[in-house]
Amino acid sequence: MLNIKVAELLNDQINKELYSAYLYLDFSIFYEQQGLDGFANWYMIQAQEERDHAMLFLKYLQQNGEKVELGAVEKPDKKLSTLMDPLKAGFEHEQYVTGLINNIYAEAYAEKDFRTMQFLDWFVKEQLEEEKNADDMIKKMELFGNDSKGLYSLDSEYAARVYSAPSLVL
Ligand code: FEO
Repeated sequence: MLNIKVAELLNDQINKELYSAYLYLDFSIFYEQQGLDGFANWYMIQAQEERDHAMLFLKYLQQNGEKVELGAVEKPDKKLSTLMDPLKAGFEHEQYVTGLINNIYAEAYAEKDFRTMQFLDWFVKEQLEEEKNADDMIKKMELFGNDSKGLYSLDSEYAARVYSAPSLVL
């Protein structure tokens, strides 16, 4: 059994990751409507990755004999008007998620819950990658997004992204 507070935060994280999936699905829909299928593909895959993250938290709780309770997933509420909006909202969101992971880690650390800390190590690294990817997308859009050829090239790059299952297996 895990410490009650740690278990509660891990359970909440399932909801946060599912919200992330929902948010990125919303971004994917936005780009598809703009005719940018590559950006839409990138966020569709990102949504799948977020669902995977949720499943990892769920499985970890189950492996530890903890009760899992699912809450309602909020409606994505980011205002999307320009092509840059999802990219900036995505970066901010990943910074927020990093804070959530760090918060669970701090609680596990305080409880000397080394098992949960080890489990979370993968997410700590993953958040570095998530923030870097989001930041790179903003920079590339700033550099190339105002030119139609540049935008086409970016869209082609994002169209090439393929889904791969998470390297963490529980
Ligand atoms: Fe599950 Fe994008 O962090």
